[in-house]
Amino acid sequence: MKITIEPAGPGDPKSLPANLGFGKYFANLMFSQRYSAGEGWHDARIGPYGPLSLDPATVVLHYAQEIFEGLKAYRRPDGKINLFRPWENALRFNRSAERMAMATLDPEDHVQAIVELVSLVQKWVPTQESASLYIRPTMIGTDVGLGVHASQSYLHYIIAGPAGPYFSTGFNPVAVYVCSDQVRAVRGGTGEAKTGGNYAASLFVAEKVKARGYQQVLWLDATERRYVEEVGAMNIAFVYDGTHIATPALSGSILAGITRNSVLKLAPDLGYTVSEERLDIQKVLADIRAGRITEAFGLGTAAVIAPLGTLGTEDETYTINDEPGPVARRLYRTLTDIQYGRIPDPYGWTYTIDSKN
Ligand SMILES: Cc1ncc(COP(=O)(O)O)c(C=O)c1O
Repeated sequence: MKITIEPAGPGDPKSLPANLGFGKYFANLMFSQRYSAGEGWHDARIGPYGPLSLDPATVVLHYAQEIFEGLKAYRRPDGKINLFRPWENALRFNRSAERMAMATLDPEDHVQAIVELVSLVQKWVPTQESASLYIRPTMIGTDVGLGVHASQSYLHYIIAGPAGPYFSTGFNPVAVYVCSDQVRAVRGGTGEAKTGGNYAASLFVAEKVKARGYQQVLWLDATERRYVEEVGAMNIAFVYDGTHIATPALSGSILAGITRNSVLKLAPDLGYTVSEERLDIQKVLADIRAGRITEAFGLGTAAVIAPLGTLGTEDETYTINDEPGPVARRLYRTLTDIQYGRIPDPYGWTYTIDSKN
């Protein structure tokens, strides 16, 4: 794919505060390309970061034909930059596109666009501990008109920005509300796709329980309200007796997380056993009470491993941990060591971009 390169917009990473927060700052270049039926993808360019101009009747604004991805670029000790499994994100982007009746793209082109953008904005890849460049590929339906239909034209764009740890509390256990009345996604619906509507559907409960001190919501399956699915915008895992890691099997309404997949591959090499299974919330709560579950954590690109401290239902609070457990710590350390290039990557997960500085 030929990408036209244009001058960057205003902005300088040197002016950013040391505490970056998450998703607040953006590099001064972005990638974009357009799709139209008949013509396919065209006009690939990397140009200044800036607002989009959309007709108020654009399809995405009314019928939510939108997908996105999230991946990170990490500053290595030698100054080069690592991308973590970008190919997997490109493949998942296409799976999301198919589910949302949108145009797919050549995964090679998608990875190339990410690599070229990151190469050009590399001075925005932070050097602080636990910070990284968060990359957000996005696609929206751009047909203009209010008839409900799959758009015939799309805009694919990629923005990126320096980010600190996802949780302002850092690597500390979070309080989780077990939601048994509302649901995030239903099997056969769009839960497996990374599309904005899933996140919109989660906000009502998340906002309601925030006021009660919860930082995340644990979602149960939509049919029986019985099986554990995800925690906030992360996959979830439970540690049994300090040695076994159990995570919900992909059900059709769970996002197939790349961090989850990486832990399933990595954990056996660290001496843990793993299983993907249907996890009944009542059994999980009983196992916490009985001390069999020694740790629980969320898994996702943003936080990597997020230890869970308590699970709260309407009636009770179940305490798992008041500090990160040894399994969460070890997985976090090993995964981030691979991501930041501090140890060799035996899995071929990292893609290294040479530093031009
Ligand atoms: C709903 C949901 N589940 C799980 C994940 C974790 O996926 P990954 O590890 O690929 O970031 C994410 C974040 O990307 C998510 O939004």
